This record gives sequence, C-alpha cells and structure tokens, in this order.
Amino acid sequence: MNNNTQESKIQLEYINKCTELVKEKYKKAPAFFIQNAGCQMNSLQTDTVAGIVKRMGYTEVSREEDADVVIYNTCTVRENANLKIYGHLGHLKSIKKKNPELKIVLFGCMMQEPEVIEKIHKEYSFVDLVFGTHNFHKFPELFYRSLNTEGQIIDVWKESDEIVEGMPSDRKYSFKTGVNIMFGCNNFCSYCIVPYVRGREKSREPEAIIEEIKGLVADGVTEVMLLGQNVNSYGKTLEHPVTFAQLLKQVEAIEGLKRIRFMTSHPKDLSDELIRTMAESKKVCHHLHLPMQSGSSRILKIMNRRYDKEKYLELVAKIRNAVPDISLTTDIIVGFPGETEEDFQDTLDVVEKCDFDSAFTFIYSKRSGTPAAKMENQVPEDVVKDRFDRLLALVQEKGRKASSRFEGTVQEILVEEESREKGIFTGRTEYNLLVHFPGCQDLIGKYVKVKLDTCKGFYYFGSLAE
Ligand code: 5AD
Ligand code: SF4
Repeated sequence: MNNNTQESKIQLEYINKCTELVKEKYKKAPAFFIQNAGCQMNSLQTDTVAGIVKRMGYTEVSREEDADVVIYNTCTVRENANLKIYGHLGHLKSIKKKNPELKIVLFGCMMQEPEVIEKIHKEYSFVDLVFGTHNFHKFPELFYRSLNTEGQIIDVWKESDEIVEGMPSDRKYSFKTGVNIMFGCNNFCSYCIVPYVRGREKSREPEAIIEEIKGLVADGVTEVMLLGQNVNSYGKTLEHPVTFAQLLKQVEAIEGLKRIRFMTSHPKDLSDELIRTMAESKKVCHHLHLPMQSGSSRILKIMNRRYDKEKYLELVAKIRNAVPDISLTTDIIVGFPGETEEDFQDTLDVVEKCDFDSAFTFIYSKRSGTPAAKMENQVPEDVVKDRFDRLLALVQEKGRKASSRFEGTVQEILVEEESREKGIFTGRTEYNLLVHFPGCQDLIGKYVKVKLDTCKGFYYFGSLAE
C-alpha cells in the first residue's frame, strides 16, 4: 500500500469516529450548510467535504441559521472574493451569539494567505476550524479534533507533494462530474495569486485518473470535465511523463463514457497533438476555454503569459482550421497596471477577430505578493470601469452573434434538470450551450435531440426533435 492510500485509510477511519461522535452528541441528525466560491476545482473539493459530512450523519440545509456546522470553501483570485467572506463572517457572528454550539469551518485558497490567517486569529476568534489547500485531505481528522475542542484550530501548510486518492464525494449531478487531473500552477502570471496559494504543479498518475473515471461511469456518469489550472502541461512532472493528449486518448477508450470536457488551457502549451486529438475524437467536446487575458503583446509580456497577440490569433486560426465547429471561450482582464488605451484597443481587436462564444471579463484586482501588485502605474478606477463597459458590450454582441449560428439546427443535449419554470427542462450541447425545452423528469441524465428554435442571446429555447 502506498502512502496515499494509507493516508486515505486513516482519514476514512476518522470519518467513522466522527459518525460515532455525532450520534452521541445529537439526538436527531444535525445539519450542515456549505458554500463554494471560485473555480470548478474548488467546487469539486466542496463536493468532497459535503460527501464526508453527509457520511458523518449531517443533512444539508440551505440557510446558515438552520445549521449546526457552517462550512465555506474560499477563493482569493480577486479581492472581492475575500471581502465577501469577511461579510459572511460578520453575519455568522450574530448567528453564533444565539447558537454558541455552531461550528464554523473555513478552508480553500484564501486560507493560504498569512495575512488572512492573522486576521481570522485576531478578529474572528469565533471561527472553529481553518485549513488550507495543501492539507485538504486531513479534513476528517481536523474535524474530529474540532468536535472535541472548544477553541479555534488553525492548520495551514505551506506546501505538500501528496495527492490523496479515494476520498468520498457528493456529486451535484449523478450523470456528470469534474475530475481533477492535476493541482497547482507553475506559470506565475504576474497578476495571479494561484501559484502562491495552490503551490507547484502536480499531476495525478494516469492510472488513478482512469480508475476513478471507470468507477464514475459504473456509477452512472457519462460526462466528465478534466480539471487543472493548466491541463496542457499535464503529466510533465510524472516519473513516466504522459502528455495531456495521450491522457485524453486513454479516457476516450473508457466504455460507457460519452462526453469529455477539459479546463483550463494555457495558450502557450496548447500542442498540435492536442488539436489533432480534439479533431479526431468522438467524445471530446468541441469546446475550448482559452484564456487570452489581454490582446496587447506589450501587456502580455508584462503579464508573463509567454505568447503575444499574433501567436494567440495564429493559434485560434489553427484550431478553427482543424475543428471548424469549435466553440471558443476566454478570460480577459481589464486595467492591468500600465494598460493604455492603445493596449486596450488591441484587446478589442482580438475579441473582434476571434468570434468567441463567450468571454469572462474581469477588472484587474491587486493581489498582494504578486509582482503586478508592486507595479506603480496602476490604472485609475474610472478609466478601468469605462474600458470594462466597452469590452463587455462588444463581448456580448459578438457572443450573441456566435450563438445564433446554431439557430434552426438539431443538436444533441445532455438533459440536466427542470428549470425554475415547471415543465421546462435544461440541457447542454457539446458546445456547452444551454437549451431550455418542454420535457419531462424521465429525460434527466439522458441525451436527446432538440431543435434550437429561438436564440435568446446566450441560451436557446428549443423543442424535442424525436
Ligand atoms: N485580477 C483579475 N482577474 C484575475 N484573474 C486571475 N487573477 C486575477 C487578478 N489578479 C482571472 C484570469 C484567470 C481567471 C480565472 O481569473 O482571467 O484566467
Ligand atoms: Fe494563474 Fe496564470 Fe496559473 Fe492561470 S496559468 S492559475 S492565470 S498563474
């Protein structure tokens, strides 16, 4: 047995110990509230924690006020995420006054920041348990300690090489899920805090990934999203290196799996081998999220992105050539230090040329500890806001146009759930386009053909075609 499985065995024993303790402590099943912030990788860890506390005997509730344990998985990629958590904590303080037994647990990326920990220790002493990204796998053990302690427990590690396999998880959908294939990031884009809070890049062994997906498929999953900060450099640090395209081929061979998605791709590492694999594959969805961040070669250099405007445009042309029906999405930051109107015009120019299906647009947020935070020429707020509004207008106009190319076509969708409107169901095409259509409960989790009748901008209203 290797260390990883040994560690997961230890943690599974702690889950059992907590289950016993919870039975003794509460007369009826206690309740937990959990909230996720940030990316899909965070959301996967939120599902794991939810799965674990459910095994311990807690049931989920949708209001903090009704919970015996409140758990927040935090993000710190932009300052707003941190401010929101402090806001929540203010609210929790008053709830805990009325219910002193309430346990408050914080984990995730924001907890890897030393200033945050200091603040929680000094100003938020009513928080019971805090842990970080590197000792995430220790949650059952830490929670057990917390159940037996009155005071605050803070346990945050600076780094870890370990990847612990085999923890229980609570999937949102029975038929689709994310799968982490790697952790951390080595790129150090100059604005980004991720490499500091998630540590160096570590890939999971392909065998472990394949085994997990086979298990998921046996349990009803037909769509997986392979997740990593930079999936294009997957496998480089393994003892026996494997490329991401090779991994995709292995995943493709799993019988019963119908769709494969992946996220996120860094333009500098997107190989011809991957483009070929996407073109040839029957299961890899024709959707690519390719963050460009800026259209200005000058800014891209200071961002340490290691590609320029021309290279990004060439890459997009190459992808469209190989996979003509590809749906492209991107991330863009506005107001990076020193960004001029001319730089911004380059960003608009790339958006104009690339025909993105959608783009996530962000206002640059200063993250302490990153090189960009020390740059002196920060852009004034009103200038950033004006550029942001102009970019958003263009992105939306282009996105609407790109989505409208499907109008009148018949597409296969995976049906996800009933919408807020009774009798109206939603599903997604391989292009990740959302479709609403009149249907029934039996269709949830199934692949059906729908005609995309009316384009509503970023989603469609359709009708069953069979
Ligand atoms: N400010 C604004 N946006 C950021 N992102 C990462 N760091 C920052 C920052 N400091 C954006 C990038 C990335 C996405 C996940 O978040 O666009 O691709
Ligand atoms: Fe951050 Fe760049 Fe790594 Fe993405 S690739 S997580 S933006 S450092």
